Amino acid sequence: MKKVYIETYGCQMNVADTEVIFSILADNGYGRTEDIGEADVIMANTCSIRDNAEQRIWGRIEQFNIQRRKRSGVVVGILGCMAERLKQALLDSGKVDVVAGPDAYRSLPRLLETASDGHPQIDVLLSREETYGDISPVRIDKNGVSAFISIMRGCNNVCSYCVVPYTRGAERSRDWRTIVREACECRDKGYKEITLLGQNVDSYKFEDVNFAGLLRIVAETFPDIRIRFSTSNPQDISDEVLETMASHSNICRHIHLPVQSGSDRILEKMRRRYTRAWYLDRVAAIKRYMPDCAITTDVIAGFCSETEEDHQQTLSIFREVGFDAAYMFCYSERPGTLAARNYPDDVSQEEKTRRLEEIIALQNGLSQESNLRDLGKTFRVLVEGPSKRSPEELCGRNSQNKMCVWPDTAHKAGDFVDVVVTGCTQATLLCKLA
Ligand code: SAH
Ligand code: SF4
Ligand code: F3S
Repeated sequence: MKKVYIETYGCQMNVADTEVIFSILADNGYGRTEDIGEADVIMANTCSIRDNAEQRIWGRIEQFNIQRRKRSGVVVGILGCMAERLKQALLDSGKVDVVAGPDAYRSLPRLLETASDGHPQIDVLLSREETYGDISPVRIDKNGVSAFISIMRGCNNVCSYCVVPYTRGAERSRDWRTIVREACECRDKGYKEITLLGQNVDSYKFEDVNFAGLLRIVAETFPDIRIRFSTSNPQDISDEVLETMASHSNICRHIHLPVQSGSDRILEKMRRRYTRAWYLDRVAAIKRYMPDCAITTDVIAGFCSETEEDHQQTLSIFREVGFDAAYMFCYSERPGTLAARNYPDDVSQEEKTRRLEEIIALQNGLSQESNLRDLGKTFRVLVEGPSKRSPEELCGRNSQNKMCVWPDTAHKAGDFVDVVVTGCTQATLLCKLA
């Protein structure tokens, strides 16, 4: 049996895709290995979101080629977003045997077969229909507690900075029945938490089921499973979704709502279809329906033409919302996007870094404040396993997605446990058993 090794980069969607890929390959007689030294096929499922993500992959391709030179017959493959963006250029490097884009994974067995005869293979066709809905993913997570389920693919939004619509193609929703079937399989394998994934989950629509409908179906079919989802888009998140969350206690109190910028002028240039006021209105609605709901965000520092004043607006929206956590990035120009074609990348790297550092410093304080507000509260957490620090401690997340650690040798991964918060760091709630 040939053995396949896959490294996964980028977003949760790529993790879900790697699980689909292992399933397709298993059906065609390939086994999985986590040891690159014994792999017949070495692949990376890649990300193109920022230039540094791609640079890291080029570094890995060099490492893969050490194996390829050492052991004849080893096939190197590049999958995912970078495969879709760079296409033939990857094969032209001479360092890669197979290139397969996000909608081409069903052809992988054939591509690998032909490539192992010394003929480089590429399939980067995007599809309007492919959702891999019929496939039962092979789970690759370590603890068997929390699983990702992809509910849609692609994106129709075309935010001007973003490469995803080009690498993942048009938006399509997966038949909700296959989502329920996959959730059933997760439950039967003992999973206790499911995260529904899409670039813009609020635009999920299959037949007459919208995202709120899907949430309701999943939450009610699996009352003992915790439901999460990502990512919500401020322009689309509806009161119906918030109401559905509020009325189902197994839907987690956490919304990831990327703001990107606090300046209306920049939001418009980004082609985000909301204003600062709209965003704040949505935050108010979330707090109205669920006062205990955590809100996290993504932000980009130094987008084209961003002034100090725009940057101050970003800092002020962070203060105003008081995000519980954030992913923060410097703008990275992506070839072919609307921004790359229409606007000069005119904020210096030095200035981007300075602004990013200011946002990070502010958010560190906000995360700390958010955690301090939790002192004395009791939370139900889902145990993920031993903490990083000590085998005498367990860790797990509460409904708000905050990491909790507490001394405990009695419970195990997959248990639900009540804990009381007794202290905190910026990233973690320090607890004891309730
Ligand atoms: N679909 C999600 C985001 C997916 S990409 C949404 O719309 O919110 C994840 C994050 O990467 C984005 O939210 C954005 O903050 C960041 N990002 C995307 N393109 C980027 C770029 N060109 N430079 C820097 N950060 C970028
Ligand atoms: Fe990119 Fe915008 Fe689509 Fe998110 S919604 S994936 S940022 S184009
Ligand atoms: Fe990266 Fe593609 Fe996800 S560009 S963030 S792996 S959709």
